[in-house]
Amino acid sequence: MSDNISLDDIASLAKRRGFIYQGSEIYGGLAGTWDYGPLGVALKRNIMGLWWKMFVDSREDMYGVDAAILMNQKVWQASGHVDTFTDPLVEDTVNRRRYRADHVIKDAGFDAEGLSIKQLDQLIEEKNILSPDGNKLSAVRSFNMMFKTLVGPVDDLISFIIDDGEGNTIIETAEYKHTITGGANREVHHEGKGINPATSYLRPETAQGIFTNFKNVVDSFYPDLPFGLAQQGKAFRNEISPRDFVFRSREFEQMEIEYFVNPQNWEECFEKWRVAVHEWCEALGLPKDNVHELEVPEEDRAHYSKRTIDFEFDFPHGRHELLGLAYRTDFDLKNIERVSGKKMGYRPKDGSEPFVPHVIEPSFGVERAIMAVLTSAYTEDEMNGEKRVYLKLPKHLAPVKACVSPLLKNKPELATKAREVYAALKKDLGAVMWDDNGNIGKRYRRQDEIGTPACIVIDFQTLEDGTVTVRDRDTAQQQRVAIADLAAHL
Ligand code: GAP
Repeated sequence: MSDNISLDDIASLAKRRGFIYQGSEIYGGLAGTWDYGPLGVALKRNIMGLWWKMFVDSREDMYGVDAAILMNQKVWQASGHVDTFTDPLVEDTVNRRRYRADHVIKDAGFDAEGLSIKQLDQLIEEKNILSPDGNKLSAVRSFNMMFKTLVGPVDDLISFIIDDGEGNTIIETAEYKHTITGGANREVHHEGKGINPATSYLRPETAQGIFTNFKNVVDSFYPDLPFGLAQQGKAFRNEISPRDFVFRSREFEQMEIEYFVNPQNWEECFEKWRVAVHEWCEALGLPKDNVHELEVPEEDRAHYSKRTIDFEFDFPHGRHELLGLAYRTDFDLKNIERVSGKKMGYRPKDGSEPFVPHVIEPSFGVERAIMAVLTSAYTEDEMNGEKRVYLKLPKHLAPVKACVSPLLKNKPELATKAREVYAALKKDLGAVMWDDNGNIGKRYRRQDEIGTPACIVIDFQTLEDGTVTVRDRDTAQQQRVAIADLAAHL
């Protein structure tokens, strides 16, 4: 890891070398969305595969699930997300640009951690904090970050009338058209609570897909407590101000574990997960000194948490949350019981009384893991009097494991032999690249920049004794290895 790396260094390497591109870039982009190129997708899969291997496949107490992204709206009412999954929003009163209030306050040099909407308002007023364009800010309000969508053939705009249950009539305009058999479209009157029954949300966390399957897995497998359910997948948050490359995206990927425990043992299990999180950071190749634990004070914790440790990393834009570890108590399962009417109790195998398990939740973000990995691997040194940039990625994460090339492109005997070696290695290792462009030095530099641990060159000696040169990315040392031993050597 080099000192003084900027976010731009990482983002521009990621773009130039085919890791990560701005989403919809060809049409001017869509803020907070990112597309993964060939190397990015390989790196991401390696990280996600490593996580699955470490936390699911290699353990006896873990079960995987893969729940639908679209879920019944009751999931998000029960979980509290409809009411409380909000960020504080302020508006520039002149140009109407919108910002996260705590970000504007922080950028103005004041601390906004844990402040209520009222306190944020007071601080803006007292310190005369203005918008980034120097204009007066509006009052702060809560903005729900869930993306709303409609499920079913209800695609037009229509006003519909709702009774809010307290005798008031609300008219809500929504993207809602009720198609009546026969094709006529009519205004629809809904009774009861004021939410369009077709409304669903893009999940803002994968966790709820786990909680809603708790009973299914218990019924199918009856695992011993403690046990965990793990899920990887997309999550969506309508962030007010997505920023810092992929760090704060509107669409991102999570890897989450809900670990169900007897409440008497929650502290012991929490501690085991704290240690496991550090092992994960080590497996990602993150320097120990750059990973920090932050015990989150009560006023800053999510609504469901009784204890949270944020694992922070020294990103190029500062020390920020990489992943979280929370004690979610029985908050979610109890809420599911309340709203669904179904029992979430676990019956201990010793025949004692059933109880609702408590939950320890390690929650990992894939994008932030990628950023931390790239930051840790990004290295500058000098080689043969020239500046070199390379990614010192752990071998198991490198998107390309080896690159094969003939010493000279225009010597058919070398090219043929090199193709043979390439084909055989590709069968064994999969992620092997062919490169015969430019001179050998340039090829090495290109591979160094994407973190390829080994470059294999077929030269005239290969034709004589069946050995090739293998160049090590980090030391640039070369050694001769027999073709027959290559796969094992790599
Ligand atoms: N289920 C708990 C939960 O979702 P969180 O702290 O809101 O907790 C967990 O999110 C992790 O997801 C974070 O530590 C981070 O790695 C990742 N994450 C959250 N919001 C993100 C965003 N807008 N962009 C990228 N990653 C994000």
